[in-house]
Amino acid sequence: MPVRIILDTDTGVDDALAILLAMRSPELRVEAITGVCGNTPLENCIRNIHLTLSVLDARVTPVVAAGEERPLVRDLAFAGDIHGEDGLGGVTDQVDADGRRVYPDPDHQTSTVHAVDLIPDLAGRYPGELILVAVGPLTNVARAVMKDPDRMRGLREIIIMGGAFETVGNVSPVAEFNIHADPHAAQIVCDAGIPLVFVPLDVTRQAFLDTGTIDRYAAEGGARAGSARAAFVRDCTSRYVAFHRRNRGVNGCFLHDPLAVAVAVREDLVTTVPARVDVETAGDLATGMTVSDLRSDRWGAPNARVCTAVDVQAFTRLFEERVLA
Ligand code: RIB
Ligand code: CA
Repeated sequence: MPVRIILDTDTGVDDALAILLAMRSPELRVEAITGVCGNTPLENCIRNIHLTLSVLDARVTPVVAAGEERPLVRDLAFAGDIHGEDGLGGVTDQVDADGRRVYPDPDHQTSTVHAVDLIPDLAGRYPGELILVAVGPLTNVARAVMKDPDRMRGLREIIIMGGAFETVGNVSPVAEFNIHADPHAAQIVCDAGIPLVFVPLDVTRQAFLDTGTIDRYAAEGGARAGSARAAFVRDCTSRYVAFHRRNRGVNGCFLHDPLAVAVAVREDLVTTVPARVDVETAGDLATGMTVSDLRSDRWGAPNARVCTAVDVQAFTRLFEERVLA
């Protein structure tokens, strides 16, 4: 029986790859994809979810619902320099030789139900079954917890791409983007009494997709089933890779969000440790820091499991087979 999931996303580039992986994994049944502001404004995020789904040309597509347009307290801070002004690496501006858009805006319908209502509704419909995979700021999740804590505690678990525990952050020396974008929301989720799995930079920086692999599959082209998907991955990651090349000196990109989805597919891909996790919300230099001691429960009873290692080869193989091939 496939595991039912909701994917809550601020659809940027790696989020789009996570959507492809989730939709192409028979172990998962994607009940809904909910959008939240983060990498890009909410309206871009929702368009990007629909556009990514249209690349799949899937017979059945999940409900797509819009969520929160801004963090609980902090100001908006997008990541256009990494994900492009459109949030999808600029593919919405890509045209063919005849000047036609290669990836036109699909005419898919967005649900009239707000994400903050839909998430607890589904948690209540499938008590103990539903996994929420959160790969953007936790604003929607926190609002849902505040609105309906009892039904949200019916979630099987929340898998969170977020945090930097024993590694340096990516938006500050101590903070990772998703948590930093809305630290108040992250702390509410930490206190919600829902089973949490953090998939932090400690492991997602090992989930690396190199340009050689992308080009190999995209070059095969033709009528091969995955050629449209591989071409989309090549097109939407080109600027994301350029950012990694400029800033990390690597020829590829980190698959932060796809790894969080992969944990829902096969939790044996990662090693986790129980820990008490809290988030710095009042700080200046340390705002958005995930505060935790992975060595012991000295600082409080565990409220989460934190991924500390990943089977890189197994994950890479899974991603290539499901998304590129
Ligand atoms: O820090 C990485 C996370 O921030 C990923 O979810 C990426 O999409 C951005 O949202
Ligand atoms: Ca994301």
